[in-house]
Amino acid sequence: MTTAHPTSLAVLGLGQLGATLARAFLDNGHDLAVWNRTPAKADALVERGARRAESVADAVRTADLIITVVSDYAAAEQLLEPVVDDLRGKTIVNLISGTPEQARALAAWSGERGIGYLDGAAMSGTTVVGKPEALFIFSGPEESFAAHRPALSALGNAVYLGADPGLAAMYDTALFGLIWGSLSGFYHGAALLGTEQVAAKTFAEVAVGHLSFIARLFAEHASQLDRGELSDADGTVKVHADAVHHLLETSRRQGIDTAVPELFAQLLRRGIDSGRGGSGVAVVAESIRNGV
Ligand SMILES: NC(=O)c1ccc[n+]([C@@H]2O[C@H](COP(=O)([O-])OP(=O)(O)OC[C@H]3O[C@@H](n4cnc5c(N)ncnc54)[C@H](OP(=O)(O)O)[C@@H]3O)[C@@H](O)[C@H]2O)c1
Repeated sequence: MTTAHPTSLAVLGLGQLGATLARAFLDNGHDLAVWNRTPAKADALVERGARRAESVADAVRTADLIITVVSDYAAAEQLLEPVVDDLRGKTIVNLISGTPEQARALAAWSGERGIGYLDGAAMSGTTVVGKPEALFIFSGPEESFAAHRPALSALGNAVYLGADPGLAAMYDTALFGLIWGSLSGFYHGAALLGTEQVAAKTFAEVAVGHLSFIARLFAEHASQLDRGELSDADGTVKVHADAVHHLLETSRRQGIDTAVPELFAQLLRRGIDSGRGGSGVAVVAESIRNGV
């Protein structure tokens, strides 16, 4: 696939993620300069049509949009500081994982020097980059995202979150928490069914078919929490506590670890102990927010 409006891009950092992003930009017909501290990592990309930059300054020279994707913010700052004059009037899109504070600090540093800044996060690893299911999230000035969206869409589904440059990092960590919570539940289920010689793949087929129901719960409980009106239509705290008790008992009987369901059991217990056993289960979100 090639884009009708190619952008001149530079990718700084050709590790696992950076090299994958660079390939997606090349596949979409963009002019691409690539730079990596260890130059040999650029070889395969140069064979595909990228320009090998001899230095960071050389990479930035021909680019409108500079993608930073080295290991951490400290490394990026070391690279960017000496080339401030070359960056002025251009836009950095930073895809390094970090905290909202780090993103806001780099955005402020850029703004003070006349450099545009969007913060972003790659949410879907490297294997689906370039496909519509690859989620990339961005935050920073809306007009800047709008201007660069065609180029960033080469990476996958480019989603804009808001003007605060720290938002992308905040969502990044929140979405990782969601992935870990979901995987924990899946791993526990696979271990439990495994005690009855059910293959993990067989369990996965049933579990994946159940995901649309779970997605409906997310949407429904989110609107309950935003309205401040919890419903017990999906079960009360007490009902869920009883169900988790069954999972704990069955897990113990089958000889597997109970750390995963114990976490949710504890949260439900806090709801019951604070007199909210009759509330809808989404009250757990309030317990997490308030620590009670
Ligand atoms: N891999 C993923 O699936 C993924 C997904 C989401 C987010 N991320 C984030 O993306 C960033 C890059 O991840 P990665 O997986 O591509 O890492 P990686 O494979 O370990 O590559 C690290 C890159 O950073 C460069 N680098 C490190 N320190 C440097 C320094 N002081 N000066 C110049 N270059 C330096 C390395 O250069 P050399 O080649 O010379 O060592 C290499 O290009 C991280 O913040 C990571 O959390 C990664």
